[in-house]
Amino acid sequence: MSVSRKVKEIAPSLTLEITAKAKKMKAEGISVVGFGAGEPDFNTPDFIIDSAKKALDIGFTKYTPAAGTVELKNAICKKFLKDNNLEYTPNQIVISTGAKSSLYHAICAIVDEGDQVILPSPFWLTYPELIKLAGGECVYVQTEKQNGYKMTASQFKDAITDKTKCLILNSPNNPTGAVYSEQEIKEIAKIAEEKGIYVISDEIYEKLIYENEKHYSIAQYSEKMKELTIIINGMSKSYAMTGWRIGYLAAPLEIAKAISSMQSHTTSNACSISQYASVTALEDAKGDEFICEMQKVFDERRRLMVEMLTGVNGIEIIEPKGAFYVFVNVSKLFGKTFDGQVIDGSLSFADCALKKGVALIPGVAFGNDDCIRLSYAISKEDITEGLNRLIAFINELK
Ligand SMILES: Cc1ncc(COP(=O)(O)O)c(C=O)c1O
Repeated sequence: MSVSRKVKEIAPSLTLEITAKAKKMKAEGISVVGFGAGEPDFNTPDFIIDSAKKALDIGFTKYTPAAGTVELKNAICKKFLKDNNLEYTPNQIVISTGAKSSLYHAICAIVDEGDQVILPSPFWLTYPELIKLAGGECVYVQTEKQNGYKMTASQFKDAITDKTKCLILNSPNNPTGAVYSEQEIKEIAKIAEEKGIYVISDEIYEKLIYENEKHYSIAQYSEKMKELTIIINGMSKSYAMTGWRIGYLAAPLEIAKAISSMQSHTTSNACSISQYASVTALEDAKGDEFICEMQKVFDERRRLMVEMLTGVNGIEIIEPKGAFYVFVNVSKLFGKTFDGQVIDGSLSFADCALKKGVALIPGVAFGNDDCIRLSYAISKEDITEGLNRLIAFINELK
């Protein structure tokens, strides 16, 4: 039995590996604080759960159109108009079983074998694997800490070749928490537009944004740019609905049609019950109230993280302005030892930290071996305990 070359090339998820190790330790009674979470630790709000119950009660349990219900498409169009000042028609929206699925379908819809896809690094670890699966070639652009881990327009321009098909832009960013400003996005858009490069804009963390930052979608730049953009978004992060599996995309009509048709043969429709409840989430005023409360809590935790990590010897952070992650540069500690083990990169750093009861994600998973990622989708008490352990661990290194 041999698996295909395509599948062989897919890297196993480092995130899942560390999480599994931490889980095993916990099961053995060892205390571990996990900074690996990739999902809000909030429960889905009751008004959304009640709506799902209603869907069951009224028998809304059958297939829906493959690209989603008209009601949810309409609600998503309203959301785009209200939040992003973008006008889409329902047939430009494709609802899927999560943003991950939307991303895969979007990449497949525009990338041919051998096409290049520009990926600013650090990147969310799923992108390269999806690009490879679609037969594309990843072209990484190394962003600089000094520029808040954001790709500049000139870096983008330099990475473009005659094989470039598309750019994947992710703001607010996982893993760095970076938020591109309107000006920065406009500079990138100008080049994409000039060169006719598609942009897949992953805006899943749109609602988790702090201080005076504002979310700006690259599709807002011009009508022409909108025709080159596929926006990816979903219910997972904004409404604490990760398990419900509802993602969506907005695309030029021709691409949306192609994706709908592809999706009708792969996953078909997303769960009917989740779609029903998502209409309620988007349309009921309680949705905005929930997001507002969750954002406030995340902001408090973010401040706590920054306060505790600032000034710790040997580490550097860039204050995150979005999502729920802090990306910490630990490279100054490389070469030191813990318990006889030399720390020579983010993997061994994570390995040793786990021995001190702190689970974190090595930056190498996101294309940057100098850093580690800490999620603050955990309680303030856990943050305090976990960071105290991490700081003690760092101080113990020889
Ligand atoms: C940047 C980014 N995009 C997409 C997703 C996928 O979200 P979904 O749960 O909707 O598949 C995640 C989840 O971690 C993410 O971090």
